[in-house]
Amino acid sequence: MIASMKRISAWFATLVLGFALQGLAAADTIAVIGTGNVAGALGTEFAAQGHDIVYGSREPDRDEVTALVERTGGNASATTQAEAVAGADMVVLAVPGEVAAEVAGSLGDLSGKIIIDPTNRISRGDDGFMHYTMDTSNAELIQAAAPGASVVKAFNALSFRTMMEPGGAVSIPLVGDDADAKARVAELVSGMGLEPLDVGPLSAAHIVEGMLAIWINARSAGTPFDYHLRRTD
Ligand SMILES: NC(=O)c1ccc[n+]([C@@H]2O[C@H](COP(=O)([O-])OP(=O)(O)OC[C@H]3O[C@@H](n4cnc5c(N)ncnc54)[C@H](OP(=O)(O)O)[C@@H]3O)[C@@H](O)[C@H]2O)c1
Repeated sequence: MIASMKRISAWFATLVLGFALQGLAAADTIAVIGTGNVAGALGTEFAAQGHDIVYGSREPDRDEVTALVERTGGNASATTQAEAVAGADMVVLAVPGEVAAEVAGSLGDLSGKIIIDPTNRISRGDDGFMHYTMDTSNAELIQAAAPGASVVKAFNALSFRTMMEPGGAVSIPLVGDDADAKARVAELVSGMGLEPLDVGPLSAAHIVEGMLAIWINARSAGTPFDYHLRRTD
C-alpha cells in the first residue's frame, strides 16, 4: 500500500515537473511560408508545441487562410511572406520545390534564422517516372539564396498526412551544416512524436531529396506505398 502510494506521488511529481519544464521552454516565432498541405500540417504541429506561428501567404486575406489560422490555434496569424519572416526565429519554406530558392531569396535578409526546408522538386519524365538529374539540391540552392541563415532539410521524405498521424515510429532524416540549428529542428521533430535522424551535412541533401523518387516511382509502377527508416539499437 505504502509502496504504491509512493509510486503514485513520484508519478505525480514527474507530471508536475514535466508541465513546469514545458512552461519554461522558450516559444519560438516560426514563419511558415505557404498555406497548403505541408504548411498546415507543420504549422499546426508546431503550434501544439507552444510556438507562435505566422503564415506567410501571397494572399493572406483569403478565406482558406483565415480557416487555417483558426485551425492552427495558439497565437497563429497570417500576413505577407516578407512580413511573416521579419520577426521570426525560424522559417519553414512549405512552397513548391521549383520556386523554393527563388522564394527564399525574395524574403529579405534571413541572417541568423533557421530555415526548415521540406521541399521536393517533382519532375516526372515522359514515361511517368522520376529520373533524378539535379547535381545539387534544393536545400543547397536555398542556402545560397540566404547565405546568413542555417538551412536544415527535414520532412521532405514523408507525406503531410504522416506528419500529423505517424501511426508508429517514423524517422525523419535531417541534413544541415549548423549543429545547433539541426538540434533545434530535432526538438521540433521529437515534439511531433517522430524520430530525428541526423544524416549529415547539407551537401548530402540530394540523397534525402532523392528519396522522393522511390515514393513517386512506386506509384507510377502501380504500387502506392509509404516507406520509413527504422532505427536499430
Ligand atoms: N504534400 C506532401 O505530402 C509533401 C510531403 C513532404 C514534402 N512536400 C513538399 O513540401 C512543399 C509544399 O508541398 P504542399 O503539398 O504543401 O504544396 P501545396 O499544398 O501546393 O502548398 C504550397 C503553398 O505554397 C504557396 N505557393 C504556391 N506557389 C507559390 C509560388 N509560386 N511562390 C510562392 N509561394 C507559392 C501557396 O501558398 P499561398 O497561396 O498562401 O501563397 C501554397 O499553398 C513542396 O515542395 C512539396 O514537394 C510535400
